[in-house]
Amino acid sequence: MVNTLPKPETKIPSQETVLTPRFYTTDFETAANLDLSAQEKELQAMVAEMRADYNRHHFVRDDAFEKSWEHINGEAREAFIEYLERSCISEFSGFLLFKELSRKLKNRSPLLAEIFQLMARDEARHAGFLNKAMGDFKLSLDLGLVTKTRTYTFFPLEWVLYTVYLSEKIGYWRYIIIYRHLEKHPENQFSPIFRYFESWCQDENRHGDIFKALLRSQPQLWNNWKARLWSRFFLLSVFATHTLTVHERSRFYQSLGLDATEFDVQVVRNTNETAGRAFPVMLNTEHPQFFPRLQRCAGYNLKLAEIGRSSQPKIVKLMAKLPLMVAIVWNLFLLYLIKPIDTEPLRETVR
Ligand SMILES: [Fe+2]
Ligand SMILES: [Fe+2]
Repeated sequence: MVNTLPKPETKIPSQETVLTPRFYTTDFETAANLDLSAQEKELQAMVAEMRADYNRHHFVRDDAFEKSWEHINGEAREAFIEYLERSCISEFSGFLLFKELSRKLKNRSPLLAEIFQLMARDEARHAGFLNKAMGDFKLSLDLGLVTKTRTYTFFPLEWVLYTVYLSEKIGYWRYIIIYRHLEKHPENQFSPIFRYFESWCQDENRHGDIFKALLRSQPQLWNNWKARLWSRFFLLSVFATHTLTVHERSRFYQSLGLDATEFDVQVVRNTNETAGRAFPVMLNTEHPQFFPRLQRCAGYNLKLAEIGRSSQPKIVKLMAKLPLMVAIVWNLFLLYLIKPIDTEPLRETVR
């Protein structure tokens, strides 16, 4: 039979904001000169696991995808497509960074080059799988074009280690929490893509463990006061970004039968707990002001978006936005001041 399905139309990527996933570049020279000896054994074990490629046959679309998606309509459809797009861009961003690292390190640091090449392999699969799911809605992202037109943000290698570690682990928790929720509530599983999340999140978990080994191989990233301040900063930035974006897209979580606020709390708590194993500090999420302040920021952020959409003159909008922006910064500052939990002493007792 001749395949008469129309070719998916290329979706114009949504506008970039402070909260959209970014593309990164880093200091490749510093990466090439990393002394990994302190975690050599762990990294060798990780690379062996990555070579085994447990998910080799996982990202294959099965028959469940062969159907019409017209029943997902209205707001739920829009929210799902947005979710797919955002996830695809963020997986693809990981692919580009890992690919570039593996290319630049090839002749300088073979072990690291191989690790990054294997992680790039996984992220390419993830991004491709999400893009195909967008194809079900007759849309797809032109990732080649996105590569050329997006702006790249430079991050020193130390920042890359902190932030990618966190984004892998938060990715793990996001995927697994959705998966476990849908296991209990199959009536909300409106797309077969969610069934793939269990093995998928294991990729992210492994990537996170690799970054943990890289972090722990560099004592200056955890054994001094500066490292503790940076860890606090990155933990809070990642959690704040998460809280804000999850509340921006509460419709999507609603369509899964999840409450956005509860989902966010669960993801942040678990990621913080996990990060305590790699970082010198973790945040005190049990502080009575911790989640209320984060959620207040999410509320202000929603109001900002509402003002942005209104048809008032620019200057009026700006005047309305200003106090909200100040309120967000102020709340984040107060959150940063909450005394964190020192994790290094805990590590000693575990050993
Ligand atoms: Fe991924
Ligand atoms: Fe990953």
